[in-house]
Amino acid sequence: MKTISVRLGKQHYDILIGWNLLREDVARSALRQHLKGRRAEIVRDTNVKAIEGTDVFGIVTHAEAAIIGYADFPAGEASKTLATVETLYRNAASRGVDRQTVVLALGGGVVGDVAGFFAATFLRGIGLVQVPTTLLALVDSSVGGKVGVDLPEGKNLVGAFYQPLLVLGNLSFLRTLPARELRCGLAEVVKYGVILDADLFATLEQQANALPRLEPQLTEDVVARCCQLKADIVAEDPHEKGRRAILNYGHTFGHALETLSGYTRFSHGEAVAIGMGMAADLAVKLGRAAPDVAIRQDRLLEQLGLPARVPPDVQVTPDSILQAMYRDKKVSGGKLRLVLPSTIGAVAVVECQDTQPVLDVIGGRLG
Ligand SMILES: NC(=O)c1ccc[n+]([C@@H]2O[C@H](COP(=O)([O-])OP(=O)(O)OC[C@H]3O[C@@H](n4cnc5c(N)ncnc54)[C@H](O)[C@@H]3O)[C@@H](O)[C@H]2O)c1
Ligand SMILES: [Zn+2]
Repeated sequence: MKTISVRLGKQHYDILIGWNLLREDVARSALRQHLKGRRAEIVRDTNVKAIEGTDVFGIVTHAEAAIIGYADFPAGEASKTLATVETLYRNAASRGVDRQTVVLALGGGVVGDVAGFFAATFLRGIGLVQVPTTLLALVDSSVGGKVGVDLPEGKNLVGAFYQPLLVLGNLSFLRTLPARELRCGLAEVVKYGVILDADLFATLEQQANALPRLEPQLTEDVVARCCQLKADIVAEDPHEKGRRAILNYGHTFGHALETLSGYTRFSHGEAVAIGMGMAADLAVKLGRAAPDVAIRQDRLLEQLGLPARVPPDVQVTPDSILQAMYRDKKVSGGKLRLVLPSTIGAVAVVECQDTQPVLDVIGGRLG
């Protein structure tokens, strides 16, 4: 197993990554440290409830804690709402959840974001332990303290920065994850390689076939590496005032695609994969990166079963995508700033005043 520290001063916390964490002394004592003698409110979605029951019991038992109750809500992004959070508040109030109670968020990014927002705001903040069960949640959403919900007007518009006490990254949960969800997480893994770590990218290239098989050592190494990369960025820029923006590589294009296709046609990872393709093309077109960057990235994404282009049946135009990009909440002051690779392992945030090259690269990946 591996321990990654998120160095945030008083809000410092550890991410534990391993295949059988409950058998590890380090994990057991971390759990006891944060949960012993306390009560745990378990938040899950209905899919996770069907798979994970006994493991929660194990976590709580090892921690010498007690379960105060389970708050389960229907799986899926549609549940990431204030209405779900209100249900959690009211259940918690009727059960007598107090400031000593710890919320255990057991699930993917949706559960982590909803349960995290609940924990951040109920009684003005109660303890939170993240137990991510998807690859995306392991390498991305459970690290860094962003929690929140969607509004009909847009995704993640309401939220907070709220760091957990501990992240328990038990890799064995990944065994039941559907292949498409696994690929979704792999898109983010590729992202870390491109933006920060040429060695990681080279490992992914060499092991592209072993990755979806969840080969134990490889999975542990890759997940831990991604968490370390994100943890370092978060420690440098916890409130996303600057450098943390590079984690949005491929996401401004990707979000536009997700929005225009009604969030049903593409998974987040598929949209991000196409978005990274567009961003790499733009970097090449602007002379900021060698063509090889886009070629290697395309090749790797394809080997992992992720798309490089928007299929012809999706009704979008370069213009509609560009307009949606301007509506992205991360575009500030009407300026389009995009994260573009300089080489594999390094990126820059570039302000794009001339939109023609952006339209050109979008057009190049449609149909
Ligand atoms: N807070 C952040 O920094 C951050 C970062 C990235 C993404 N996110 C958010 O994360 C969400 C996406 O997360 P996600 O991809 O994990 O989606 P998700 O939570 O919806 O999980 C995907 C699906 O897998 C199921 N599932 C979860 N664990 C499983 C397991 N072990 N076995 C089988 N099925 C399992 C879920 O029930 C769900 O149906 C989005 O809402 C996104 O906005 C947040
Ligand atoms: Zn993402």
